[in-house]
Amino acid sequence: MSSLSEDNLIHTFNGIAFTKRSSPELLNSLVTFDAREDDVLLVSYPKSGTHWLAEIITHLCASKAALTSPIEFGDLSKLNQLNRLSGKRIIPTHLDGNMLPPAFKRKQCKAIYIIRNPKDTAVSMYHYYRENPNLPTVDSWPRFLEMFLKGDVVCGSWFDHVLSWEEHTSDKNTLFLFYEDMKKDLSRVVKKISTFLGVSVNESIIHEICKKSSFSEMKSTMEKENHDPSHTVCALTSNRKLILRKGAVGDWKNYFTPKQNRMFEETFNKKMKFSEVAKHLVYEF
Ligand code: A3P
Repeated sequence: MSSLSEDNLIHTFNGIAFTKRSSPELLNSLVTFDAREDDVLLVSYPKSGTHWLAEIITHLCASKAALTSPIEFGDLSKLNQLNRLSGKRIIPTHLDGNMLPPAFKRKQCKAIYIIRNPKDTAVSMYHYYRENPNLPTVDSWPRFLEMFLKGDVVCGSWFDHVLSWEEHTSDKNTLFLFYEDMKKDLSRVVKKISTFLGVSVNESIIHEICKKSSFSEMKSTMEKENHDPSHTVCALTSNRKLILRKGAVGDWKNYFTPKQNRMFEETFNKKMKFSEVAKHLVYEF
C-alpha cells in the first residue's frame, strides 16, 4: 500500500504523501487505535495555524491534559506510547478524515479543526518546503502552486482534507476555527475554545493567554528555547524555528499572478461547491 520516492523523504500511503517521519507500519496500524471518550483531536492541514492553536490549548488546559505528538508521527511503537498516557490526551493530527482511527468517531471524541484560507496556506507551505529538510525541494512558486492544486504535496489535497473532515464530523463534537478569526479577535476565539472544552476561565486569564500566544511572543520564546524534538505538534518537523514566518492574512497577494488566481478560483469553485465551511473563508481584511 506504500511506495517510496523523492530521495526517500516521502512515501505515499492510500494515495496521500507522508514524510518518512510517519512510518508505513504506523499508518497501517492506525485503524486499531483505541481512542478514549475524553480524547480531544487538534486537527489541521499543514500551515493552518496548528502551533498557534496548540499554544492556546496548552495554556487553557494547563495541568488538566497532556498535548501529545501527532498520532501519525513515529513508528509502530507510537500507539503503545499513547496508550501509556493515563490522563486526558490532546492529540494533534494532519490526517485526512478518511484515515482517522474509527474509534474516535465511535466514541464521539471532540475535535477542533483549524482552517486557514488556502491561498495563504499554499504560500506558507511553499516556504516550508524550501526550509524544511524533511520535505523535498521545490524549485519555484509556480511549480509549487501546481502541485498544491493537484494535491501532489505532503498530506494530500487541501480541498480533500477539508471536505473529508466536514463529511466525517457532526456539529456537536467538532469545532471549526478559522485562522483569520483568530487574527481578528483572538479573545473571542479563546472563549469559544474554552466553552467547547468545558474549561472555565475568567477575563484576565483569557487576556494572559492571548498575550502569550501572540505572534511576537511565540516567536521570541521559540528563538530562545531549546526544544525537545519528541515534543512536536507537527508530524513534518520538530524544529519550531521553521514555524513562525510572517503570520499574516493576505500574503498570497505578493505571490499569486492574476492568472494563477483565476486558476486557483476555478479549482476551488469546482471542489468546494457543496462545502459549508468553505463559505466562511476570508482572504484579506
Ligand atoms: P506563515 O508561514 O504564513 O507565517 P502550522 O503551525 O500549522 O505549521 O502553521 C504555521 C503558520 O501559522 C505560519 O504561517 C505561522 O507564522 C503561523 N502562526 C503561528 N503562530 C502564529 C501566531 N501566534 N499568530 C499568527 N500566525 C501564527
